[in-house]
Amino acid sequence: MGTPARMGAPVTMTVDGFEITVPEGTSVMRAAAEAGIMVPKLCASDNMEAFGSCRLCVVEIEGRRGTPASCTTPVAEGMVVHTQSDKLRRMRKGVMELYISDHPLDCLTCAANGDCELQDMAGAVGLRDVRYKAPEGGALANHFATREGADINALYVPKDESNPYFTYDPAKCIVCSRCVRACEEVQGTFALTIEGRGFDSRVSAGAAGDDFLTSDCVSCGACVQACPTATLQEKSVIELGTPERSIITTCAYCGVGCSFKAE
Ligand code: FES
Repeated sequence: MGTPARMGAPVTMTVDGFEITVPEGTSVMRAAAEAGIMVPKLCASDNMEAFGSCRLCVVEIEGRRGTPASCTTPVAEGMVVHTQSDKLRRMRKGVMELYISDHPLDCLTCAANGDCELQDMAGAVGLRDVRYKAPEGGALANHFATREGADINALYVPKDESNPYFTYDPAKCIVCSRCVRACEEVQGTFALTIEGRGFDSRVSAGAAGDDFLTSDCVSCGACVQACPTATLQEKSVIELGTPERSIITTCAYCGVGCSFKAE
């Protein structure tokens, strides 16, 4: 959750009126969590370095300009942080509105329904409506269709089902890069990257033309575990549904964090 806490000198600060002491180097997001305050987030996760790309975790810090991302901001002695204000609520809602405007609204038939961080965060920030309507069709195609002169067929990226264990659906990708970072930081494989910019940006498995099966991917599943949406989805989950309860464990052999269905 944000930059992992490092063992440093104790730092005392205040989050939403709660005084808390954490080690120097701790992120504001993690300090808030220590105080029992959950800041909305999408690109941060507990087991990876903070990236600061989704801008959902913005906070206000007294004496500082702007609204920094709490996941990439380290605590400081005497810091006074506010995680809730009308301004922050408006900003987070606006960010989520943009994410959802570029995402298929098929939650009721999606394999991740009820187990989707994008869905959770939309609810957490109170998003009920999206002003930016797109025409019918796939999420990526929607945007390409509205761009004058765009060759939809050349730009639309179909679902990659080449891997025997999971599928990759670019239409559901929010480009948080958690899968790319999991591949690098957790597994050390470096099989994934982000290519393109703006609406064209997407996760890519290796060189142009590679699918997951022919890429350097070793099918460890770290990217699937890290994905906050149904972009990377286990085929067993698609076929059998989301388990009612799962156990995630990390053994000594690798850092993937295998997931088991609990009976
Ligand atoms: Fe901090 Fe995404 S969680 S920027």
